[in-house]
Amino acid sequence: MPKNFYITTPIYYPSANLHLGHAYTTVVADVIKRYKKMSGYNTYFVTGTDEHGQKIEKKAFENNETPIEFVNKQVEKIIFLWDKLGIQYDKFIRTTQPNHEKTVQKIFTKLYKEGLIYKGNYDGLYCESCEEYLTLSNIEEGVCKVCKLKPIKLSEENYYFKVTAFKNFIIKYLNDNPNFVSPEKIKKEVMNNFLENNLSDLSITRSSIKWGINIKEDDKHTIYVWFDALSNYLTALDYLNDNDSSKINLMEQFWSDDTEIVQFFGKEISRFHIIYWPSMLKALNLRMPTTLIAHGWILFKDGKMSKSRNNVIDPLELMAEYSRDALRLFLTSEISYEKDGIYSNEIFFDFYNNVLANNIGNLSSRVINMAKKYFDSKIPDVESIDSEFYDLIKNTIKKYKINMDKFDVSNAIKVVIDLSKYANKFIEETKPWVMAKEKNITALSKNITALSYVNVVISFLLSPVLIDGTLKNLNLFDINLNDLSFDNITNYKIVIGKTIKNSEILYQRKI
Ligand code: MSP
Repeated sequence: MPKNFYITTPIYYPSANLHLGHAYTTVVADVIKRYKKMSGYNTYFVTGTDEHGQKIEKKAFENNETPIEFVNKQVEKIIFLWDKLGIQYDKFIRTTQPNHEKTVQKIFTKLYKEGLIYKGNYDGLYCESCEEYLTLSNIEEGVCKVCKLKPIKLSEENYYFKVTAFKNFIIKYLNDNPNFVSPEKIKKEVMNNFLENNLSDLSITRSSIKWGINIKEDDKHTIYVWFDALSNYLTALDYLNDNDSSKINLMEQFWSDDTEIVQFFGKEISRFHIIYWPSMLKALNLRMPTTLIAHGWILFKDGKMSKSRNNVIDPLELMAEYSRDALRLFLTSEISYEKDGIYSNEIFFDFYNNVLANNIGNLSSRVINMAKKYFDSKIPDVESIDSEFYDLIKNTIKKYKINMDKFDVSNAIKVVIDLSKYANKFIEETKPWVMAKEKNITALSKNITALSYVNVVISFLLSPVLIDGTLKNLNLFDINLNDLSFDNITNYKIVIGKTIKNSEILYQRKI
C-alpha cells in the first residue's frame, strides 16, 4: 500500500498581488509534493487564500468594491500565477467557500460547548497588516517588528480560545518530538519568547469587523482571521463536512496516523503554527502534523521584500524573462530554509547563466552533439562505465534522497548541480575528441554512454523542479519520465540503445 503524504502552504492574503516571497513557499511545497509522488506516495497538496479580516475589508473599500468582488478578482490572479508557475496543488482552498465557513462555525461551537472558548474583553494593540494581536515582544520603537507599521489600539468584547490550557502539552510535545519543528532556532525562539513566557489565551472573535465568518452563538461577532485561516488545513480535507458520503474521506486518508503531514510557512508566522495550531488540534482531539517547517525570508540587500514595504518582485515578470524552470530552480536551490536568502537582479542573472545555460543546458547539448558525431546518435552498448564516475552518480542519487527526505530541498538540488558541473569537467578531462581521433572506440563508447546516463539521471532528479526542461531533455534522449524510478535510475543500462534526437538549446544564455 502506498503511504500517504499531506503538504500545505500558508493560505495567502489576497490583499495585493503575490510576490517572489509567496512564490518561494509555494514552489518549495510543490517540489516536495512532486518528489514524494515520484517516490511512490499518495500525495495531497493544499494551498489557497485567506480572504476575511480587517485588511481585506479596508482594501475592498478603497477600491470601491464589496469584499467578495475584490477577493474574487485577486484570487483569479493568484490562480493564474500558480498555473504559470506549474504548481500542482490538489486543492485550492478559499476561506469564503461555504464548506469552509460552515466547518469553522462547527469548530467554534464544538470548542465553545466544551468550555474551551469563553467570553471576555480585549484591550491592547493590534497590527492590521499582520492581522495580529501584539504583545510588547512584537513591538520595536512603536511599530510592529514584522511589517514595521504602527499598530492600532483595540478595545472590544471578544471570545477567547483557552490556549493556556494546552501550554504544558505543547511544551512536552516539542520536547519529546525533536523533529516536530524545524529549524531548531525557530523552535527555541517560540519556546522562549511566547510559550514559556507571555502566553495568554487567544482572542478569536472580533465585534468590530463585519467581513468574517459569523458565529452561531452571538450575532455581533465574526471569527478572527487566524482562527478561520488555520482551520483551512482541516477544512481542505472536508473535516466535519459529512454532506457527501460518496466522496473519498480525505480526513481518513490524509489526517490518519500513518500519513506524513508537512506544513510549510514563513518564520514570521511561527507562533500561530507552533502554538495556536497544535492547541486547536489537541482541543479537537486530532493528531499533530509530522513536521512544521518555518523558512526564512527572501530579502533585498537592504531589507525584506513585502507588500507593506512596497518593494516586491513580480514572479510573472521574472518568468517572462527567464522561464519558470529558471525561477523554480533559483528559489529552491539558492535559498535554504535556515537562513534568509538575498535576491537581486544581478544574482538571478548570474545564477541563470552559470547554472542553467552554461552547466545543465550545456552538458546536454555537448553530449547530444558528440553522440551524433561519433555514434550516429545511437547510445552504444558497453559492458561497463568508468567506475569512479558511476560511483559518484550513485552517491549523488543517495545524497539527493537523504536531503529530500529531510525536506532539505536546497541541498538536495545542490548535489545534483554539483554532479552536472563534475560531468562537464569529466568531458574536459577525458577528452572524447582525442579518443575519437585515436580511434579508441571502446573508451569512447564507455564515455558517451556514461555521459548520456548522467544526463538522464540529472533530468530525473531535477524533474520536480525543472518541469519543462527535464521533459524536453529526456525526450531528446528518447526516454519517458514515467518509465524512470528510483529503482531503475541507478543502472546505467537504461540508456543503452536509445536513439538521441537532434540537440535543442534548453536554456538560452542571457547577455
Ligand atoms: N494569511 C496568512 C497565513 C495564514 S496560514 C493559516 C499570511 N498570509 S501572507 O499573504 O502574508 O503570506 C505569508 C507567507 O508568504 C509567509 O509565511 C511566507 O510563507 C510567504 N512570504 C511572504 N513574504 C516572504 C518573503 N519575503 N520571503 C519568503 N517568504 C515570504 O500570513
